[in-house]
Amino acid sequence: MSSAPAFLNGEYLPLEECRVSVLDRGFIFGDGIYELITVYQNQPFYLAQHLDRLQRSLSEIKVVSPYSESEWKELITNLIQRSEDQDLAIYIQVTRGVAPRDHVYANNMTPTVFAMANKLPIVPKKFLEKGIELVTTTDTRWQRCDIKAISLLANILAKQEATEADAVETIMIRDDCALEGSASNLFLVRNGIVYTHPKDNLILPGITRDFTIELLEELGIECKQQHIPKDWLYSSDELWITSSTKEVLAATKIDQRLVADGKPGEVWRKTYNLYQQHKM
Ligand code: PDD
Repeated sequence: MSSAPAFLNGEYLPLEECRVSVLDRGFIFGDGIYELITVYQNQPFYLAQHLDRLQRSLSEIKVVSPYSESEWKELITNLIQRSEDQDLAIYIQVTRGVAPRDHVYANNMTPTVFAMANKLPIVPKKFLEKGIELVTTTDTRWQRCDIKAISLLANILAKQEATEADAVETIMIRDDCALEGSASNLFLVRNGIVYTHPKDNLILPGITRDFTIELLEELGIECKQQHIPKDWLYSSDELWITSSTKEVLAATKIDQRLVADGKPGEVWRKTYNLYQQHKM
């Protein structure tokens, strides 16, 4: 299989030829941020929103963006052109750069920019037909989950709990509230109203979350952005997760209990169908 096209500090090269210093602060400290952008039929999906979030993450960690918006777009276009596939997941990572190990950083460092274009993983049919299974865990992440930071240790440990329970995603619980998944946002349907946690420092402001809210508006379905008590997870009519790669998936089991009748619900189906229409 041929290697994925990649980009490192101004150069386009095959993924396996990319090398960074062990003194890169991304490697030493997890000091960096990332973005993941899906591409359908060679067209980046919601690109402007992803680039805005990239810019915001950089500002929040006090790194000056090494590229302008048009340069980021050019980088993405070049990776798409170099790819064999037309449906892609473009991963972009910016770290603070390379320096002798010291918590203190200089303000004039040169950021390391890495990007790669991988084939977009297909959402398994059985996830759409039968729904997915979720588990819950205590959210042990820091208080700035709104930054798309590469330091994902708590997310990884949480995700592994799902995998070990033969589930797909783990929902993070903090102060008795259900916030989001380890790598996705959470939606819940109760008496015809859809709920999702508001944008604050405790969740990642998902691009797919925003898109799903727009779809619900288009469908004339009320969506409230408010805290979701943990026990609502066990008494909801529907539960969904959203992310760029998973799109919108219905969960039919949580912590080994059925969600409603254990089948993907009607509100999800309408939202999913409209999502597919907009993608094309
Ligand atoms: N994860 N919340 C968290 C913690 C996430 O890591 C993600 C995405 C989301 C959904 O964001 P979006 O809709 O913009 O993809 C929410 C990506 C896909 C990842 O880490 O690979």
